[in-house]
Amino acid sequence: MSLAGRSLVSLEDFSTQEIISILDLAEEMAQALGWEEAEQRQAAKPLDRILATLFFEPSTRTRMSFEAAMLRLGGSVITMADSKASSTAKGESLADTARIVSGYCDIIAIRHPQPGAAQIAVDNASVPVINAGDGHNRHPTQALTDLFCLRRHKGRFSGLKVGLCGDLKYGRTVHSLAPVLARLGCELVFISPDMLAMPPEIVESIRQTSDQTPQQTDDLPAAISNLDMLYMTRIQKERFADAAEYEHYKGIYVVDKAALRGAHEEMLIMHPLPRVDEITPEIDDDPRAVYFQQAAGGVPVRMALMALLLGLMPEPATPKSGLAEPA
Ligand code: CP
Repeated sequence: MSLAGRSLVSLEDFSTQEIISILDLAEEMAQALGWEEAEQRQAAKPLDRILATLFFEPSTRTRMSFEAAMLRLGGSVITMADSKASSTAKGESLADTARIVSGYCDIIAIRHPQPGAAQIAVDNASVPVINAGDGHNRHPTQALTDLFCLRRHKGRFSGLKVGLCGDLKYGRTVHSLAPVLARLGCELVFISPDMLAMPPEIVESIRQTSDQTPQQTDDLPAAISNLDMLYMTRIQKERFADAAEYEHYKGIYVVDKAALRGAHEEMLIMHPLPRVDEITPEIDDDPRAVYFQQAAGGVPVRMALMALLLGLMPEPATPKSGLAEPA
């Protein structure tokens, strides 16, 4: 089945082959555009396509990289970044908003605080919809961006040992990333206090799709010595109903120079960002700290995804040699 005309709510919607195709096209786009060097970036040919970004929650990276991606493809962007300034403030439903906005554009990227909101948009829009984060549920384009960064640095997925650390209960980035890493052959270690552990249904889905039971621990110093990549996440104040509970857990894990003493020389440090205090700026210049490169990769990844969903380009026929895993 082609990706053209489809929506993306969760990476479970896409086969492993389709995910690798997106990463391969993102790599082609990164190279063709001279993406890594600002002075080498090339102007895009005009494209008669419009992206609508509907953001009901704050964002820097996701909204701006979606918009940059469409502009780099040569298309245009309309945006609703402040729902208080839209008719949502008058009580218009999300379903009606999605129906109306799909009459003004060719593709929608939506972020919303409510889990399941992206599916409501898919059910009511007449154009492809991309989930740009729905509450604590999923954030599939962040996971694609994470995979792009990991593959660029390690050249493979299979056999890598990856630690996911922090708020695994409410963290939509890890809810999207963990299952796809397991599908691609990574070995997973979940590092969190019990109260912020990975939801059991995600652990169960990993067991069923990958034949592995991820290790679970609250001990970052012990886990860090065996990892090929550490994926830090923020303890998210906005997801806690109880302020006292947030105060109890904030700052529970901090990666600084001292914490890295036990880590491999080659262990990547990734983070979806924004960070608060879980990674100190003193390690930003450590060559293993790739979170800023990771964020920049959101542009070619979202370019590739939108190009494929809009049917602008065929899916790469042959995945990169040695990098594709079985579908
Ligand atoms: N990683 C991420 O989703 O960042 P923003 O909230 O800034 O979009």
